[in-house]
Amino acid sequence: MSDIVDAEMLALFQTELELCKIGPGQTVAILSGGTVRADYAQAFLCAAQNLGATALHVNIRNHVVANSNAVYGKTPLAGNRPAIEALKSADMVIDLLGLLFSAEQLEITNAGTRMLLVLEPFHILKKMFPTEDLRRRVEFGGKLLAKAKEMHITSRAGTDVRYRLTQYPVMTEYGYTDEPGRWDHLPSGFLFTHGDDGGVDGTVMLMPGDIIAAFRRYVQSPVKLTISKGYLTKIEGDGMDAALLNSYLESFNDPRGYAISHIGWGLNERATWYHMVETRALSAERAMNGLAFYGNVLFSTGPNTELGGDNDTPCHLDMPLRGCSLFLDGQQVLKDGEVLIPEMRAPGR
Ligand code: FE2
Repeated sequence: MSDIVDAEMLALFQTELELCKIGPGQTVAILSGGTVRADYAQAFLCAAQNLGATALHVNIRNHVVANSNAVYGKTPLAGNRPAIEALKSADMVIDLLGLLFSAEQLEITNAGTRMLLVLEPFHILKKMFPTEDLRRRVEFGGKLLAKAKEMHITSRAGTDVRYRLTQYPVMTEYGYTDEPGRWDHLPSGFLFTHGDDGGVDGTVMLMPGDIIAAFRRYVQSPVKLTISKGYLTKIEGDGMDAALLNSYLESFNDPRGYAISHIGWGLNERATWYHMVETRALSAERAMNGLAFYGNVLFSTGPNTELGGDNDTPCHLDMPLRGCSLFLDGQQVLKDGEVLIPEMRAPGR
């Protein structure tokens, strides 16, 4: 492992930690597995120290706990009590390992430690780097969503689905975090909640250009998803996409994998829909462009433990949809993929 730190990386991570209000008196713990992202670990250690904070590196063995990086919730940190206690004792954890949807993440953030997930390649961190304006717009959306009792999503292609919204909190992601116990992901730029248990009904039409993030794939052929009482009940289409979805969901042999998961919209104008074409990206680390791009409706299936539900199925599909209209209690937020509400519009949009 090299302790040579790239100057550009150090400067970016220092700006990130400043946004996270890291300074004297604070402790920053960096969590990594094996030699993966060793350069990030060293640069974050250096950045935290430059800001006067106490920094430590918790490095554990990066053994494989799942056969696919699309399977969430199982991490090599599980059962490593001394490492978990060290992370809980910090004010902030930089997660270079990937604890999302795990019991360990919940335990650490419940202890009041804020946490930032950083997995993407450096050029993505740079391109989608957060701003205070992005936070302001995402938080405005979060307040709007928290007040709503119903979300209605439509599209010209025939999507027409309603989410009852009285049960779950709203989660914002804007790429940094300065509040105790709050989790975020660098980079990001969206917000979401869950429909009530059993409270999602209607139709979602996946159309060419929509994204199935777990497959690193743009939809090529229309797929009609029928949703009843919070579950996918039919997946229909003549093309390959419907066949892929059916085959993938069946492979988990878990009826809870058909549940409807988080729902929200993207607000990061620097994230690009076409990113996977441009880079031929094949890794999970590059999905953030697709999840966060401005005006997408982020539809998903699978677990709901992230917001306090009890469905911990490992089968999770994020499916960003283009060109949708979205209404909260009748107030239109998106029109055909365009953000209508001035307080949420990106500069120059
Ligand atoms: Fe997701």
